[in-house]
Amino acid sequence: MANRTVTIINGDGIGPEVMAATLRVLEALELPLDFEYKDAGAEVIAKYGTNLPDETVEAVLRNGVALKGPTGTVVGGGLPSANVGLRKRLDLYSSLRPVKSVPNVKTRYEDVDLVVVRENTESLYAGLEHIIVPGVVESLKIITEKASTRIARFAFEHSKRHGRKRVTAVHKANIMKLSDGLFLDCCRKVSREFPEIKYDEFIIDNLCMQLVKDPTKFDVLVLENLYGDIVSDLCAGLVGGLGVVPGANIGERTAVFEAVHGTAPDIAGKGIANPTALMMSSVMMLDWLGMRDEAKRMQSAIQKVYTEGKVRTGDLGGTANTREFTDAIIAAL
Ligand code: NAI
Repeated sequence: MANRTVTIINGDGIGPEVMAATLRVLEALELPLDFEYKDAGAEVIAKYGTNLPDETVEAVLRNGVALKGPTGTVVGGGLPSANVGLRKRLDLYSSLRPVKSVPNVKTRYEDVDLVVVRENTESLYAGLEHIIVPGVVESLKIITEKASTRIARFAFEHSKRHGRKRVTAVHKANIMKLSDGLFLDCCRKVSREFPEIKYDEFIIDNLCMQLVKDPTKFDVLVLENLYGDIVSDLCAGLVGGLGVVPGANIGERTAVFEAVHGTAPDIAGKGIANPTALMMSSVMMLDWLGMRDEAKRMQSAIQKVYTEGKVRTGDLGGTANTREFTDAIIAAL
């Protein structure tokens, strides 16, 4: 069988460091994969005049799959985010972020195991803003029946496939009665197609409080784009931080796998970033590619290193640098 080609986007900041570490592990697994390197992010603007070159988007479309490091976006002004652009142009409508306690990583809770399913294409996060008159800005929150229904269906189908028991729709429909109201209506309709899965609803502010008090009672959360963005980081904090939470952006035919974390400018270039999140994202990628045994092998190696607890990076209180941590994962394969 011909090798499958994966587009590799290193990204900015710690992106190239965590990507190199992850590729070392993938190469050690000797998989039938080829890698095609493409650029995106703030650091390639001078070269291409954009943070998302067409050839990168075309390569992901052609290969159907990409592994991506984080890309930086300036706060206020500047170009629109390369991430938002990539998700829009490839219609990667769902973001999947499994949040699971990591062995030996001390946090307030030991058995968190939930999944954040975030709508990836619309809501305020689409950044549709304009100045009406100087001093007055309008930011558009677009919610559609089409996008809300397909993300709800994605959440239920994912739950069914993975033996999950409950889907919670998160909203602020008490205030945004029309937009979040429509999102909820779509979730309710789809929930009726899955009677075996429990369905309930939480208002976003209450959900945040409940998550901090006891995240173990949640299973699958489905949220519109901006709420999903914020709640993902909150959930990452519950299991040890951004260094250990993987993610995937999935469309009908294309998927881009990337960690939840950003470019970490405070530690970039120091060789100390934790590559676990991108490694776990590539476990999700192998699973999506149908390489289930290899995915399990890589997952078990990560679990083993954390369970032994001897080698860990600075963000989790350890002293290992990125290379030493990666060596330990490869040894555990
Ligand atoms: P960030 O995730 O880059 O950093 C937040 C904190 O977590 C920092 O203290 C950082 O050192 C730490 N951290 C993050 N990942 C880590 C890792 N793998 N190992 C150890 N420590 C880690 O978030 P921030 O500072 O809000 O964003 C920085 C840039 O990243 C911004 O330009 C933002 O737009 C971009 N970003 C990109 C994302 C993507 O491409 N998917 C996602 C989130 C942010």
